[in-house]
Amino acid sequence: MWILGRKGPSGFSARSTAEEVTKGIEGSGLTAIVTGATSGIGAETARVLALHGVHVVMAVRNLDSGGKVKEEILKNIPNAKVDVMELDLSSLASVRKFANEYKSSGLPLNILINNAGVMSPSFKLSQDKIELLFATNHLGHFLLTNHLLEIMKTTAFESKIEGRIVNVSSMAHQFMYKEGIPFDKINEESSYNSKYAYGLSKLANILHTNELTRRFNEEGVEITANSLNPGPIATNLFRHYNIIDGLVSTVGKYVIKNVSQGAATTCYVALHPQMKGVSGNYFSDSNISKRSSLAKDEELAKKLWEFSMNLTET
Ligand SMILES: NC(=O)c1ccc[n+]([C@@H]2O[C@H](COP(=O)([O-])OP(=O)(O)OC[C@H]3O[C@@H](n4cnc5c(N)ncnc54)[C@H](OP(=O)(O)O)[C@@H]3O)[C@@H](O)[C@H]2O)c1
Repeated sequence: MWILGRKGPSGFSARSTAEEVTKGIEGSGLTAIVTGATSGIGAETARVLALHGVHVVMAVRNLDSGGKVKEEILKNIPNAKVDVMELDLSSLASVRKFANEYKSSGLPLNILINNAGVMSPSFKLSQDKIELLFATNHLGHFLLTNHLLEIMKTTAFESKIEGRIVNVSSMAHQFMYKEGIPFDKINEESSYNSKYAYGLSKLANILHTNELTRRFNEEGVEITANSLNPGPIATNLFRHYNIIDGLVSTVGKYVIKNVSQGAATTCYVALHPQMKGVSGNYFSDSNISKRSSLAKDEELAKKLWEFSMNLTET
């Protein structure tokens, strides 16, 4: 029970905040991208990484909101190194544009935090005609990661510091269509179920890190990839669900995690020395956690990788 705050083997619990799990850690010299850093877990993650001296690039779809979060960070941490760059994860063209701009900036990249996420009660297609949750939560991050891998490999090699990829998943990865991932029906409105579509996108986040780990081990690359469940947390995520949103922002805020607790696992996995060399795991409350059997399926991870490659290569 999170509220009791029982500590796990890492020494941290569900009650630990992002500042607590990173206390005393030096991050200057590191550069991190945090997607979806305009609100909730992403904004707090950006703030806490910046507090430790990490150069944070906030990758956001709304530059005005991103600018406001940056200002707020600088108000409290005047020497923080924070940049804001435009990235709409629901558009493959926007992901490619972001990656090209990042490459041209000449910045290194030690840490990639794939945090942005959406929920939607109704079926929607992205600009690329792909179901919106799969497109935003998984496919955009899949393409982004692939485009940034060379920079991460070079940074890890030159700095002799392992790179880290952190995918923010959810315990909702367990909510799944009866047939598992419906590869041939992902874009079909008639078989859409909002709970399962969100679950599928979050399962994809885990399978993505598993397959990255397998590939890094095969290539001998000094980058780790892990996934995590941050929540449940009172954030804007539930804005399209009136009843859930109402409960979260009233009763919920007293019984579920606050945002600084919600960002703890992300910051732990991204920065903590205990995480050195740890890859292919799924975390919750800053500790290794149980995941569904599908989330451990190596063949499924390979199949999803090929499927995602086909969708993003066009
Ligand atoms: N809150 C929870 O209880 C909970 C539980 C489990 C997992 N999670 C996961 O935690 C992550 C962060 O969610 P949160 O709770 O912090 O929610 P949030 O406050 O709604 O933040 C989501 C972030 O993602 C951004 N985003 C949405 N669509 C985007 C797009 N197309 N391109 C770029 N950025 C986009 C949002 O930008 P805008 O400000 O422009 O909308 C926002 O910055 C998500 O991956 C979510 O699935 C949350």
